[in-house]
Amino acid sequence: MAGAAKKVPRQKAAKGHKLPEPIPEGFAVSDTTKKSWVFGKKIGSGGFGTVYFAAESNNPKNFDYVIKVEYHGNGPLFAEMHCYQKIGKPEHLKTWIKEKKLDYLGLSPCHGFGSFEFNNSKYRFMVLERFDKDLQQLLNDNGKTFPVKTVCLIGLSVLNVLEYIHSSGYLHGDIKAANLLLGHKKGTENQVYLVDMGLACKYQREGVHKKDLPDVKKAHNGTPEFTSRDAHRGSFSRRSDLEVLCYNLLQWLCGELPWEHCISDNNKLQREKEQCMANLDEFLEKLFPDGDCPDGIAKLLQYVCDLDFDEAPDYNLCRKFLKDELKKKGCDKDSLLIFKKMVKKPATKADASKQVSNKENTVRTTRSTQTKRKQTTSVSLDPSIIPTPAMLELLQKKDMKPKGRQITKKAK
Ligand SMILES: Nc1ncnc2c1ncn2[C@@H]1O[C@H](COP(=O)(O)OP(=O)(O)O)[C@@H](O)[C@H]1O
Ligand SMILES: [Mg+2]
Repeated sequence: MAGAAKKVPRQKAAKGHKLPEPIPEGFAVSDTTKKSWVFGKKIGSGGFGTVYFAAESNNPKNFDYVIKVEYHGNGPLFAEMHCYQKIGKPEHLKTWIKEKKLDYLGLSPCHGFGSFEFNNSKYRFMVLERFDKDLQQLLNDNGKTFPVKTVCLIGLSVLNVLEYIHSSGYLHGDIKAANLLLGHKKGTENQVYLVDMGLACKYQREGVHKKDLPDVKKAHNGTPEFTSRDAHRGSFSRRSDLEVLCYNLLQWLCGELPWEHCISDNNKLQREKEQCMANLDEFLEKLFPDGDCPDGIAKLLQYVCDLDFDEAPDYNLCRKFLKDELKKKGCDKDSLLIFKKMVKKPATKADASKQVSNKENTVRTTRSTQTKRKQTTSVSLDPSIIPTPAMLELLQKKDMKPKGRQITKKAK
């Protein structure tokens, strides 16, 4: 199980980490059930491992799968594999989809895993379904924002997956556009799949929620701009995944989060998030100076802010906020994902203040923030940041060279 491996914060382990050697096309490996898989072209590499197209050996021309490879000694793929063993059983996924009457669930079954040797090094591998472009590429191609409808539809898909992952006792811990991929198979082009369980962890022990005991060693895990306030403290909860999702939804709507200027300073980042979330009205006014924050998103954020540390989220209510928003926009009947850049109308100051005062949203200052959340523990860690695409862009703007990992991807 995942707990057997000491969880290594991704951003630290990536420092100075050696990526696997390139595995040649046509190389065959056998998984733990003796099923054989063939490597195809490389798709991309992250901080630890590399992802390749893959085919079943008895159907070697159909690259309908991917293989994720890491050095055998690395923690993340070990943790990810154990998580997938629990949550990625094809029959479990099918039963869940049937029970919940879903069109689809945005999570790949795990088709196989194992280890192999290549050039005197030992590797671990895991086989997943092949997906298409990730949403970060689509954000980059569309001026860093998505239309409200698309944001709500993606939010709904992620909520479905989170409900499933959480029901299995796990948290994802790293929801972001680079880990959300479009479907590849015919008919799945408008479906969104969550990948990368490398930071997934259990929030329960023997069915009981782990206590809210901040842990300096686990503090600030995740992708800095989206890390939740609980994760900044080194505490793990279901509300944490929902908070990360909200930060993503807001970034996709506005193009930028207010704390992106300090993503290389974990403690400052944490303080800024705490300040913003303690006064949601002000936070949303900063993000939406025209007063055009979608009501469903504001309500979702308010709800997440009000959750207790160990409270089971009401996923139906979360989905309702987004579904109501789609209904209001008259686009609840189709699930077509349109990524085209939103053209923002320039608003005068007078317009903006009128819209703010006319807003139908009720007061959003949380009932809970001050009382329910534990006070921040000031954690001073030497942050060795792995730059995300957003960070790279900021660093480039400032003419600085990024330290840590870079994600390199080939066109698919
Ligand atoms: N199942 C998949 N199908 C297609 N591409 C994938 C798949 N899984 C991962 N990728 C691509 O590889 C990248 C890195 O994979 P990920 O699992 O996120 O690894 P890392 O832990 O290195 O971030 C993703 O951002 C995505 O572009
Ligand atoms: Mg990833």
